[in-house]
Amino acid sequence: MRIVVIGLGTVGRSFCRLLQDRRKELLSKYGLDPRIVSASDTGGIATDENGLDVAQILKLKESGMSVAEIPQKGSKGKSGKDAIESVEAEVVVEATPTNMVSGEPALTHLETSIKTRKHVITANKGPLALAYPALTELASYNNVSLKFSAAVGGGTPVLEFGRRCLKADKILGIKGILNGTTNYILTEMDTRGISFEDALKEAKDLGYAEADPTLDVQGFDSGAKLVIIANMLLDMDLTLKDLSIQGITSVSASDITAAKENGSALKLVASIEGKASVSPIEIKRSDPMCVSGVLNSVKFISEFAGEQVIIGKGAGGLETASAILRDLLDIRQSMRI
Ligand SMILES: NC(=O)c1ccc[n+]([C@@H]2O[C@H](COP(=O)([O-])OP(=O)(O)OC[C@H]3O[C@@H](n4cnc5c(N)ncnc54)[C@H](OP(=O)(O)O)[C@@H]3O)[C@@H](O)[C@H]2O)c1
Repeated sequence: MRIVVIGLGTVGRSFCRLLQDRRKELLSKYGLDPRIVSASDTGGIATDENGLDVAQILKLKESGMSVAEIPQKGSKGKSGKDAIESVEAEVVVEATPTNMVSGEPALTHLETSIKTRKHVITANKGPLALAYPALTELASYNNVSLKFSAAVGGGTPVLEFGRRCLKADKILGIKGILNGTTNYILTEMDTRGISFEDALKEAKDLGYAEADPTLDVQGFDSGAKLVIIANMLLDMDLTLKDLSIQGITSVSASDITAAKENGSALKLVASIEGKASVSPIEIKRSDPMCVSGVLNSVKFISEFAGEQVIIGKGAGGLETASAILRDLLDIRQSMRI
């Protein structure tokens, strides 16, 4: 299977590493023989129809260089869109940074992949939060798969659980702690009594929060994930602008104390119960979805199974790459049918 990889940061590189490390098993167990025929970063692209040397890509990226520097194979200044249009491949893996205003450059990468009839897998919630209905319609019209397991919950199979395991049930509502950074901040405010500012600084120092944590602390990251969940699992036609979103920037020590006195903890919860919203709310400490630190949790409320909670790490390079690989194996299976 020929694969174009766009974005070679934490996730893109982990995906390359996973393909390399699991090469034998992928072939023997699933008949999957992946070849990365093109890879892109901000410096340009590298292309080889026989498959690029993954070890060379990883070494180059780890030394801070661009794949465009690969002798004979690299092209400086060419874009991911150029790669998708010019290279013959079955699948595009998109792992560029999230942009919640325009969805770019990922939106163009997804649209170009679909229009050139390539299956596409993304870890990027930006374009899905802004244009889920249009993108899924475009993919269906062009008869290709658009997969995004990694965009919600990192490696934790939140979407897969809802889609596969509750297929015969009716999901009535969903509540989730979908952002590890904000959950870390609220947990530290709760357990150690530190301020929002100090907890945020700590989250940055530990590498949990980005240098610009706006999307996390203002609730947009959770909102984007909720949009994807709502569209995929509840057939709601939502985009980010349809949500009511409140972040955690104004959570005070007294809010945390009040929750404690009620036997609860304050959590940033994304929920769909009738309407879709994101806001800090009290969750009983005895509730299994009341997780600490950077963990994520999602509670499914369904007609027959009642309440079920799925808990796991919401981020991490290899965790997220494993979700991309899961999508790739699904595509491989659908191509054989
Ligand atoms: N990290 C996680 O744990 C995690 C979990 C779930 C989902 N995600 C999502 O996965 C995506 C990637 O995350 P990440 O952590 O891997 O980000 P990252 O470490 O910042 O890497 C981003 C990569 O994209 C490349 N890039 C940026 N603009 C580009 C463009 N216009 N064309 C081609 N390449 C471009 C960068 O190139 P350079 O190398 O040249 O800078 C870099 O290689 C994001 O959308 C993120 O929200 C991440």
